[in-house]
Amino acid sequence: MKMNELLLDKIQHVANLPTLPQIASHLIHVINDPLTSASDVAFIIGQDLSLSAKVLRLANSAFYGIPRSITNINNAVVILGIKVINTMVLSLTVFDLFPEDKKSKAIFDRKKFWLHSLSCGVISKFLAAKVKKLILFDPEEAFCAGLLHDIGKVVMEQYLHDDFQKALAVSVEENCTLYEAEMKVFGFSHCEVAEWLTQSWSLPFDIQLPMIYHHTPQDALQCQEIVLLCHLADIICYETGMTIDAKFRAPELQPGTIETLKLTTADIEEVKNVYSKELEKLTSFLEIAHN
Ligand SMILES: [Fe+2]
Ligand SMILES: [Fe+2]
Repeated sequence: MKMNELLLDKIQHVANLPTLPQIASHLIHVINDPLTSASDVAFIIGQDLSLSAKVLRLANSAFYGIPRSITNINNAVVILGIKVINTMVLSLTVFDLFPEDKKSKAIFDRKKFWLHSLSCGVISKFLAAKVKKLILFDPEEAFCAGLLHDIGKVVMEQYLHDDFQKALAVSVEENCTLYEAEMKVFGFSHCEVAEWLTQSWSLPFDIQLPMIYHHTPQDALQCQEIVLLCHLADIICYETGMTIDAKFRAPELQPGTIETLKLTTADIEEVKNVYSKELEKLTSFLEIAHN
């Protein structure tokens, strides 16, 4: 996908574009180094006191369900593992980048947006666990891909507010998906915005490409399977009512998705079942992230 000129033009007029906080970029960078130790990771997180406090609260929350209390970051990294902690930091820093925007609450409920995003993350992670013997997925990367897949929508809502409002209205009036409505109004969608946004974020391709191609998985030239996984998880969110607004039409599943992922309909039903028991935990995740 080429950077759209319209997008470039609009975005160039926007000040203070969101860049990923240094602590998250640093962690993403060191995580792939096999020599990175738990204490290296704990040291990086420890430099930010408010982030450390949130990581500890989250590590002790129902979301992770650790039976004993975790009292310091070092223990959190050892018990939960470097990858899980990295996911936590990435999630928390992204939540912080896009705080609640009261003025547009009526048309775009940020809490529902994050619940949709977290649901897509959790469903992606469960699906990844289902197929991991057949297809090599990192469940934590699958979670991050799902969590961040629609982040372009928040950027559009925040920086291209009036036109984004129009797109939301078009989606309802014309009974089309929000993706299609964005294409009509802007000539580009939240996927191109995500592509532009993540150019400076240095995310692994397994996270970045689902953000760009979850509505057009047929166009992904790399990482097709994780793109399809995120595409499917997004649609499961619609099927289970976990959307920004029920008024918006659900995207259609690309034929062959389930077969390519070597899943069965029974697998998907099981994932929906397990996921439905996680909903309360998602709310607690969100509360910690936003406090
Ligand atoms: Fe999307
Ligand atoms: Fe979505």
